[in-house]
Amino acid sequence: MTHPINPFFANRRRRQSGSAGLAPAFPTTPKCVTIGPATLYHGDCFDVLPTLTSVDAVVTDPPYGIGFAYRSFDDAPARYHGLMTRLVPELLRVTRNGPCFLWQSPTRLSQWHRYFPKGYRVLAACKKFPPHRRRSYAWDPIVYWGVEHPLSADWLLTDFSGWEGYDPANPVPAPKSVTQVRQVCGLTGAATLCDPFMGSGTTGVAAIQSGRRFIGIEQDPVYFEYARRRIERAWFSHQASTAA
Ligand SMILES: C[S@@+](CC[C@H](N)C(=O)[O-])C[C@H]1O[C@@H](n2cnc3c(N)ncnc32)[C@H](O)[C@@H]1O
Repeated sequence: MTHPINPFFANRRRRQSGSAGLAPAFPTTPKCVTIGPATLYHGDCFDVLPTLTSVDAVVTDPPYGIGFAYRSFDDAPARYHGLMTRLVPELLRVTRNGPCFLWQSPTRLSQWHRYFPKGYRVLAACKKFPPHRRRSYAWDPIVYWGVEHPLSADWLLTDFSGWEGYDPANPVPAPKSVTQVRQVCGLTGAATLCDPFMGSGTTGVAAIQSGRRFIGIEQDPVYFEYARRRIERAWFSHQASTAA
């Protein structure tokens, strides 16, 4: 019996074999594009975040430090500590202590207390893949904190009814599910959501679909361009559906 290949893994394999020799092309000055309620920066989030006075909430999926094969970002495990020690204070400042939601790898669980503010909590975001094996359930931990907790328990187990297909043309190795990200966006009433590690723009699409403003930052030029086109399409569809 054959099962469809999960495009997540197919895409990841392709990236791993095709990523050698690509020179990162980061803009020295971040470039900014506006699409309806979305403002997208092509640049390094550590250059852009300090220029933002404040955002209502952060919903983001930073690199996990598990050696993922990004096109230009080096996801070496040794870099996780440096990333988190720099990132968390900046997120606390820009959101004025939250709410912040960060997808993480469970392999880093024993280190989280070193980086995240006291009282941070973990949300288990369950997902269901197509049956490339007999059963394909998985989950991602989402670390979150804020002045007010949107959930009454540490763990929220969500049974997604289906794994919505990822676009095989998506150049980012592990894009999140829009359904899952929309659920997380729905946990905060924030009017403006920020994703400093935008990747292919999933949080931007979820923000637009849920009627929020969005600020996205991505440093890889190919990922940025893919996200820009995807968010533009989401904005056109949203406008068409609200006008109908
Ligand atoms: C896990 S991926 C995000 C995937 C995204 N959630 C999606 O659904 O497509 C992390 C992203 O962070 C980007 N990145 C890494 N360091 C960055 C930085 N300093 N500034 C902006 N983007 C960065 C990488 O290029 C990568 O696209």
